[in-house]
Amino acid sequence: MGYFEPAGELRPEDRDISRALASLREEVEAIDYYHQRAALTADQELKALLIHNRDEEIEHAAMCVEWLRRKIPAMDEALRTYLFTQAPVTQVEEAASGGAGRDGAPSKETSGSLGIGKL
Ligand SMILES: [Fe+2]
Repeated sequence: MGYFEPAGELRPEDRDISRALASLREEVEAIDYYHQRAALTADQELKALLIHNRDEEIEHAAMCVEWLRRKIPAMDEALRTYLFTQAPVTQVEEAASGGAGRDGAPSKETSGSLGIGKL
């Protein structure tokens, strides 16, 4: 494992978070591999296979993100802020940090909620 700090000093739950982050990194790399190969192949059957495989890697990455969201409160908060929004991301950040939303970006100050996370 690629620890940046002495592994023995990390708590077991921190080592698991590191494992999940490493897995997420690998899944994201795999998405990119498959995506690039699918984009360039002229063989339509191979393209379909590569897209299928890419989409499975996307599912794997999403599962890692969800596991991490459940373990890291700051990730939970960030995902609740940014995912499934429609406004430009920087405007979502502005709204989340208390700034006034622009161009349809929700504002915490006016609504008390970003209107997300309520599925
Ligand atoms: Fe995977």
